[in-house]
Amino acid sequence: MGAILFLLILALLKDHGHGAPQKDIDECSNNSLICGDNSACFNTVGSYYCECLTGFKDFAGATRQCLDIDECAENQHICGEWDICLNQVGSYQCKCPTGFSNYNYRRPHCVDINECMANPQICEDHSICLNTIGSYYCECLPGFTLQPTNIATGQCLDINVCNTEGVCGKGGICHNLNGSYWCLCPAGFTNFGNNQTKCVELNCDQYETQPGQTLPGFYSFVSLLRNNCLVLSNSTLPGTSRQLLTANVLLTLLVNTTDVLHLGVQSNGEVTKLLRTIEMSIRLIAPLLTENVTRIETNHTKAEIMVRRDKNPPEGPVSLTNENTQLDTTWETAVGDYQNYPGFAFVVLLSYKNLDTLKDSFSHQSQQLMSSAVTVSVSNSNTTNLPQPVNLTFNHLQSSDVDPTCVYWSDENGPGEWSGQGCTSVMSNSTHTVCSCNHLSTFALLKGIHQKKESGQLSVVMWVGISVALAFVVLSLIMSLWCRNFSRKRRGGHRLQQDIQLYSK
Ligand SMILES: *[C@@H]1O[C@H](CO)[C@@H](O)[C@H](O)[C@H]1NC(C)=O
Ligand SMILES: *[C@@H]1O[C@H](CO)[C@@H](O)[C@H](O)[C@H]1NC(C)=O
Ligand SMILES: *[C@@H]1O[C@H](CO)[C@@H](O)[C@H](O)[C@H]1NC(C)=O
Ligand SMILES: *[C@@H]1O[C@H](CO)[C@@H](O)[C@H](O)[C@H]1NC(C)=O
Ligand SMILES: *[C@@H]1O[C@H](CO)[C@@H](O)[C@H](O)[C@H]1NC(C)=O
Ligand SMILES: *[C@@H]1O[C@H](CO)[C@@H](O)[C@H](O)[C@H]1NC(C)=O
Ligand SMILES: *[C@@H]1O[C@H](CO)[C@@H](O)[C@H](O)[C@H]1NC(C)=O
Ligand SMILES: *[C@@H]1O[C@H](CO)[C@@H](O)[C@H](O)[C@H]1NC(C)=O
Repeated sequence: MGAILFLLILALLKDHGHGAPQKDIDECSNNSLICGDNSACFNTVGSYYCECLTGFKDFAGATRQCLDIDECAENQHICGEWDICLNQVGSYQCKCPTGFSNYNYRRPHCVDINECMANPQICEDHSICLNTIGSYYCECLPGFTLQPTNIATGQCLDINVCNTEGVCGKGGICHNLNGSYWCLCPAGFTNFGNNQTKCVELNCDQYETQPGQTLPGFYSFVSLLRNNCLVLSNSTLPGTSRQLLTANVLLTLLVNTTDVLHLGVQSNGEVTKLLRTIEMSIRLIAPLLTENVTRIETNHTKAEIMVRRDKNPPEGPVSLTNENTQLDTTWETAVGDYQNYPGFAFVVLLSYKNLDTLKDSFSHQSQQLMSSAVTVSVSNSNTTNLPQPVNLTFNHLQSSDVDPTCVYWSDENGPGEWSGQGCTSVMSNSTHTVCSCNHLSTFALLKGIHQKKESGQLSVVMWVGISVALAFVVLSLIMSLWCRNFSRKRRGGHRLQQDIQLYSK
C-alpha cells in the first residue's frame, strides 16, 4: 500500500515537470480544430501556436482568424504593367488581356502584341496600320476616306477631289486618280509645273522683246523667258518640246544679266526698263522655284526668294534680309486675294548691292542715294495699294546725320523718277532708316540734300534781309514774309516728290 502511494506521488511529480522528463502532449494532433480555418498549427513543448497559411492573414489579431489577403489590392505591382490581377482565396493570378501575350511562364508579364507586324494584311489597301498598346487601328492614306463601318479593317475609299469646285482653278480640267488628282490647264493657263495647284492665266506677250521697251542687253534673256512661258502655258505641247530651263538657271541668268546691265544704265528711262524687266521676270521665275528659300549673289546684285506651297494660304510675318536691307511683311500681303490663292505664294527681295555706280549715274548735284536700292515683289500682283504696309530697314552706305527720304522708283508718268509718295520714314538714326511703304516697287533712301539746300537758301535770304533791313525796313519785311510763305509751301502737304533729271540732255 505504501509502495503504491509512493509511485503515485512520483508520477504526479513527474507530471508537473519536476524531476524526471514527461511526454509532451501534441495539441495539434489531438485537436485538429484547435486553430481556425486557413491556419497551421505548430506544436511546442507543453504548448502550441497557430500561424496563417500563405495568402492568409490574421487581420483581427487576437481572434486568430485567418482571412484571405487580396494580393492585387495590397501590391499593385504584383503582376506586370499590363497584366490583369485576379485575387483568389489564399492566392492570386496574373492574366494577359486581349492584345497582349505572356512571354514569361513563371510570373505572367504581359507584352503588347504588335498586330500590324503580326498580320501585315490586317488593314486593307490604301490604309496604314498603326499599333497601339493592346490594340491597333487603320488609318487611310492621304486622298482616301475611311468607311464609317469598320476601323479594324480600314476600308478606305478614294476621295474624289475633283468634286470640289475650283480645285484646278479657272478652266482647269481635274483628273481624279486613286487617292490623288491632277489638273490639266487650258492653253494660256499654267500651274507652273505643279500639277496639283490651280491653273492661273499666263500671258506670254509681256515677255516679247520690244525695242524701246527692253534694254538690248536683256534681249536674249527675255527671249528665253518667253520660250519658257509659251511651254508653260501650252500643256498640249508634246513631251520633247517641253524641255524647260530650270527656275534656278533662269534666276541665275537674270541676276547675272542685271549685274552687268545696271552698271551701264544711262537715263531714267533705262532704269525704268531695267526694273520692269526684272519685276516681270521674277513673276515667272519665282513660282517655278522648288526650294523654300533661294539665294543668289553676284558682285553687285543679290536675290533672296521665299516660296510657300501650302494647301491653304500661308499666314504670319515674313522677313527677308541681306547685309544692307531687311524686308518685313506678312504672308497675307504676299497672298493678297485669299479667294484666288493659286496654291503658292512668294516674297522676293532683290538688292542692287553695290549701287555706287548706279548712284553716280543718278547723282545730280542735289540727289544722292544713301542706301542700296531694292526691288520687292510678292505673288500678289495687286500691290499698288497694300492693306498693310511693308517695312524696309536700310543700312546707310555711310553713317550720316542727314535726314534721308524714303523713295520708290515711280514710272507711271514720264521716264521714271524717285518719288516719296506712299513711303514714310518711321525711324531713322545715323546708321539706318526704317521705311514703311503701302505699295511695292523698287525702293531706296535718298539723301535730303534738297532740304539742306533749302535751309541754306533760307539763311542766305535772311542775311540779305537783315542787311537790307537796315536801309529798307519795309522791303525786308516783305522779303521775310515771302520767305516763310515759301518755306511752308515747300515743307507742307505731300510735296515730297522730287524730280530728278538724270543726264537730262
Ligand atoms: C482604285 O483602287 C481600287 C482598290 O485598290 C481598285 O479597285 C480601283 O480599280 C482603282 N481605281 C483606279 C481608277 O485606279
Ligand atoms: C504630276 O506631277 C508629279 C510630280 O511632279 C508627277 O510625278 C506626275 O507624273 C504628274 N502627273 C501628271 C499626270 O502629269
Ligand atoms: C500649243 O502647242 C500646239 C502644238 O505645238 C500648237 O498647235 C498650239 O497652237 C499651241 N497653242 C497655243 C495657245 O500656243
Ligand atoms: C553667272 O555668272 C557667274 C559668274 O560670272 C558664272 O559663273 C555663271 O556660270 C553664270 N551663270 C549663268 C547661268 O550664266
Ligand atoms: C566680280 O568681282 C571680281 C573681283 O572684283 C572679279 O574678278 C570678277 O570678274 C567679277 N565677276 C563678274 C561676273 O563681274
Ligand atoms: C518648306 O516649307 C514647308 C512649309 O511650307 C515645310 O513643311 C518644309 O519642311 C520646308 N522644306 C524645307 C526643305 O525646309
Ligand atoms: C512695320 O512697322 C510698323 C511700325 O513700326 C509696325 O506697326 C508694323 O507692324 C510693321 N509691319 C510689318 C509687316 O512688320
Ligand atoms: C487691289 O487691292 C485693293 C486693296 O486691297 C482693292 O481695293 C482693289 O480692289 C484691288 N484691285 C484689284 C484689281 O483686284
